Amino acid sequence: MIKVAPSILSANFVDLKPDIEVAQKGGADLLHIDVMDGQFVPNLSFGPGMVAAIRPITSMPLDCHLMIENPERFVSQFCEAGADIVGVHVESTPHIYRALEMIKQHGVKAEVVLNPGSPVSLIQDVLPIVDQVLVMTVNPGFGGQKFIAQMTSKIQQLNQLRQTGENDFKIEVDGGINDDTVGEVYQAGADIAVAGSYVFNSEDPIAQIKKLKLRTKS
Ligand code: DX5
Ligand code: ZN
Repeated sequence: MIKVAPSILSANFVDLKPDIEVAQKGGADLLHIDVMDGQFVPNLSFGPGMVAAIRPITSMPLDCHLMIENPERFVSQFCEAGADIVGVHVESTPHIYRALEMIKQHGVKAEVVLNPGSPVSLIQDVLPIVDQVLVMTVNPGFGGQKFIAQMTSKIQQLNQLRQTGENDFKIEVDGGINDDTVGEVYQAGADIAVAGSYVFNSEDPIAQIKKLKLRTKS
């Protein structure tokens, strides 16, 4: 069964706590926090202060997806704020190896993220040091976009690369995940699905989380 990481980008910004509690009650495995700088992506969202504020109100691991230029400037702050996973885009820095090592030095899980236009070959040399790979299945920046179906083959490629036994990473997918798309990403090898609008733009977020899991029950 797939693990589900609800994204607070689609939650109620003026009162996040009830949405976070409902996600946990619904069996969410992680809480996904989208960090945007208005440069790497054309939108602004949360900073490390938000991560620190959320940390004491939930026991779910905090999955921080940094969509910011030169993330090595900020990874320490996110780690110290209480992140359990920090994801950095390979396209956001010439020093991806350094950024990932900085995260690991804090004892936090290091994740490399791939935009839809980036091939798996771009991250091949960092795969041995990452805990997780995040495959973007929409262009990053906004919730509520349509799943890009061609990304399924990228998930399959990554899944094959870990069959060799040389790499040991989880595969997460992000963007356009709903009860129609979750099955195919799971079949392709995804372990974790981020879901924002599907969960929080619903009358019943708990039912939505359960539906995603049921769709992938083998
Ligand atoms: C987009 C973000 C996603 C977003 C997904 O840049 O990385 O995490 O919240 O939203 P949905 O699930 O609505 O596509
Ligand atoms: Zn995200």
